[in-house]
Formats: sequence, C-alpha cells, structure tokens
Amino acid sequence: MRTAHARVSVRSTDPAAATQEFADDVRYYLSQTPRQLPSRYFYDALGSALFDAICQLPWYRVTRAELALLAKHAPAILGKSTAGDRLVELGPGNGEKLATLLAAGLPAKTGVELHLVDVSGAALATAARGLSGFESLRIVAHEATYESGLRQVSKEARVGGRTLVLFLGSNIGNFDPDAAISFLRGMRATLRAGDRLLLGADLRKPEETLLLAYDDPLGVTAAFNLNLLLRLNRELDASIDLNGFRHEALWNKKESRVEMHLVSTKAQRILIPRASVDLTLREGDRIWTESSYKYEPMEVTRLLARCGFSARSQWVDTDARFALTIAEVE
Ligand SMILES: C[S@@+](CC[C@H](N)C(=O)[O-])C[C@H]1O[C@@H](n2cnc3c(N)ncnc32)[C@H](O)[C@@H]1O
Repeated sequence: MRTAHARVSVRSTDPAAATQEFADDVRYYLSQTPRQLPSRYFYDALGSALFDAICQLPWYRVTRAELALLAKHAPAILGKSTAGDRLVELGPGNGEKLATLLAAGLPAKTGVELHLVDVSGAALATAARGLSGFESLRIVAHEATYESGLRQVSKEARVGGRTLVLFLGSNIGNFDPDAAISFLRGMRATLRAGDRLLLGADLRKPEETLLLAYDDPLGVTAAFNLNLLLRLNRELDASIDLNGFRHEALWNKKESRVEMHLVSTKAQRILIPRASVDLTLREGDRIWTESSYKYEPMEVTRLLARCGFSARSQWVDTDARFALTIAEVE
C-alpha cells in the first residue's frame, strides 16, 4: 500500500473559450466534404465514462493487451528513474495504464514529475485521483489538446533528468498518416536527445474482429458515437433527434483504418444555433466522427524513424495484435 503523497496541480482551460473553440470546429468540420466532427469531442464526462465501458467489453481488446504489456515490461520502460525525470502522458483517460506501469516499475521516492494532458476534465480528475497515492510524485494535470499540452509542458522549468512521453491506447491511430508525421515531429521538437516516447499502436487484424471492436453487440460504442450529438444539444443549443441517426463502423482496407460514422436515418434539418449551423441531411447522409488507423509493427518503427525517434524495443501481443514500442530521441 502506498501513502498519499502526490501533489496535484491543475491547469484548466477557460470554459467559455473551450465552448467557442468547439462551436468554431463544429461549423468548420460540418462544412467540409465529407462532413466530419473531430473525435476529440467524444470525450465529455459521459463520453469518457462510455469509453471506460468500451474498455471492459470482450470485443475491445486494446486496453487489456496494453495493460498486460505495460505490467510485464515496466522495469524496462521506466529504467532507473531519478529525481528530475518527467513522465508526460497524452490522453491518459482514466489513468489506469499509467498507474499499472508505475505500480510495476517505479522505485519509491524518486521525485518524478508527472504531466497528464487530456481534453476531458472528467478523465483528468479520475486519473489524478487514481495516481495521487504514489509517493513523491508531483502531478500536473493539463486540460488541453495534445499539442497545446505539450507546449505547456515544454514551458515548465526543467531541472535535468529525462522525459518519457506516453502515447497509449492507439491514440496515434486517430491521426491520418500525414497528420501523424507532423504531430510526432512537433512532439520531437519539444524534446531533447535521450528523451523517450512509449507508443501503443493497434495492429491490423481480420475485418470481422475489427468491426466487433467498433460496433459491439451491446451497443456501447454506438452510444459513445451518438453522445457527440447529445453534446451538440447540451453545449451548443442544438435540438437533434438522436433517433434520427445510427452508428456505423466500417473497415476501409485501402486506407487501413476503421471509420466511425453517424448516419442520418431520415431527411432532416439540423440546427446548431451556437455554431451557426443550418444543415439539411437526406436519409443515408453521414457525418464521419473517427478514424482508427491500424498498423504493422514495422510500420510503427518506420513512422517513428521518420519523425526523429529511434525504436529501442518493441513488444507485441500476437494474439490481440497490439504493439508497444519504446523509442529514443536521436
Ligand atoms: C481512446 S481514449 C484512450 C485513453 C487511454 N490512453 C487508454 O489507452 O485507455 C483517448 C483519450 O485521449 C483524450 N483525447 C482525445 N483526443 C485528444 C486530443 N486531441 N487532445 C487531448 N486529449 C485527447 C480523450 O479525452 C481520452 O481520454
């Protein structure tokens, strides 16, 4: 049992500015062809809770596979942590993976600084609570996008030591290939030689397996997707009939990605007053809400190499088909 010694500080976003950004993004992305909504907006408090439920489903194996790899390889991942070392997790969700890693591999009293970056204030609060029992940790919770969180972290005073960035849960899969490269290069620019990145990536597998993971028989993933419309109603004063949409997941083999869409089940007009959106949809029209690109292990190491990271170890769950790669900044 560890005693509660972590100090937690929070860097929140201004709620009015966050709502304005949400409205601006909704207006912009719904006017694109194809119509889209960015997947980061899934994660309000209900969306984060629904994602946690997805992680419990037998068909979504990413979380269990990655947790097992983290527990098994924690000492190799964390190495000899010393005071001044920093751990930065981008999109930690409920923080369970980081807690598992630290419980299995963090020597006591190391004085490590932990930065959690997540757009979901609810997820950050759960993660910070779950991690506050670790001794001698200083936790800084950044309610921010990955990019602005990384900028905030890089402005914090650094007392030496190494930085390990964790980007788990196949969050990288939500970026299209060009965006993944520019995102990882941007991350690289905030780091120093010797710093490291731990990247979790889901791998290609049979279509049937993938579709069950993104369109489960219990309808939890459907609820997760449809919650985005509820968020438009609640935060941007829309009055969308959720029964007028259905969830769809499909495997785009050519692009190696699972896509999630919201499909209009009738002809309808969508008004989103705070985003100045007036949209007419026919039956069958779609809104693209998420891409989850699937990789092969070698593609992950090649991607990292193109972005200035040299892979040091890669651990693969060959059954669930999931890869965890640790890479060092060259
Ligand atoms: C798919 S969940 C993964 C959570 C956790 N890493 C795991 O593996 O279980 C993605 C997490 O990243 C956050 N997130 C998604 N897009 C984000 C973005 N662009 N910037 C910051 N956080 C984001 C979400 O709020 C959520 O907590």
